[in-house]
Amino acid sequence: MSERLSYGSYLRVNDLTALQAPLSRPEHHDELLFIIIHQVYELWFKQLLHELDAVVSDLRADQLMRARKHFRRIHTIQRLLEQQVDVLETMAPNDFNKFREHLNPASGFQSIQFREMEFLCGVRRTETMVHIEMDTAQRSRLERRLAEPSINDDLKNALTRQGFATDTHEAMLASLERIYSNENDHYELYMLLEDLIELDERLLLWRGRHVRMVERMIGHKQGTGGSSGVDYLQKTLSYRCFPELWEVRTRLGAPSYG
Ligand code: HEM
Repeated sequence: MSERLSYGSYLRVNDLTALQAPLSRPEHHDELLFIIIHQVYELWFKQLLHELDAVVSDLRADQLMRARKHFRRIHTIQRLLEQQVDVLETMAPNDFNKFREHLNPASGFQSIQFREMEFLCGVRRTETMVHIEMDTAQRSRLERRLAEPSINDDLKNALTRQGFATDTHEAMLASLERIYSNENDHYELYMLLEDLIELDERLLLWRGRHVRMVERMIGHKQGTGGSSGVDYLQKTLSYRCFPELWEVRTRLGAPSYG
């Protein structure tokens, strides 16, 4: 007879709580936190990819209001990811230094799901893949993301279907300006644009929190992934998933002198 379902068997709690394997000997008290926090991030990354894939389907089907439901969840999870840095900051730099050497050369830089999210959102730094060791399944997941349109491409396609020109950079900016200047006439598109820029902004806020936490923890030491550390991470703060959405802001409300 099959076993009756329980909380533990449904959620595979025994498996889940067996997945933390600290490497320091004697085991350093804080290494468990370090492992758990990364694992929790990876679980939320999985959920974010699930929601972002749903957004893509909605965009392709011109179901813009349905996409909003997924964005609400995406933004809420992103806020949580930013706040979660607080938990890690309860660890003193010196405690981290006591087990940091055991992590070498592992680094969040090698997070496949984080790269998947970047690729899906249009930040396609393929050179990062060279530094990531991955199995065939992981490589094909990343290659699939690169072969597919980014969300920015899907946005442009959705705008084109609604009669907005997006073929050149200038045409795209003019279309966005029209939508933002007449939001009541294009309310669903306007809300979509706001949801997208919020996705981008919250990713940047996470990057900002992460780099400050890293500076607080290791100063200007090199990263375990081999980058320059804080200097490298600081540069990632200039990346944009939806550059035109940021750029159009400068034009809005500007008086015309022509
Ligand atoms: C003590 C805590 C942490 C330190 C000192 C740290 C340090 C670093 C450093 C130095 C880098 C640059 C790459 C390298 O050379 O290693 C990096 C990248 C990264 N870390 Fe962390 N990290 C910490 C915690 C976390 C956590 C909890 C996450 C959550 C998943 C995370 C995710 C990432 C990601 C995704 C990147 C790649 C960023 C990019 O390339 O744009 N890190 N980290």
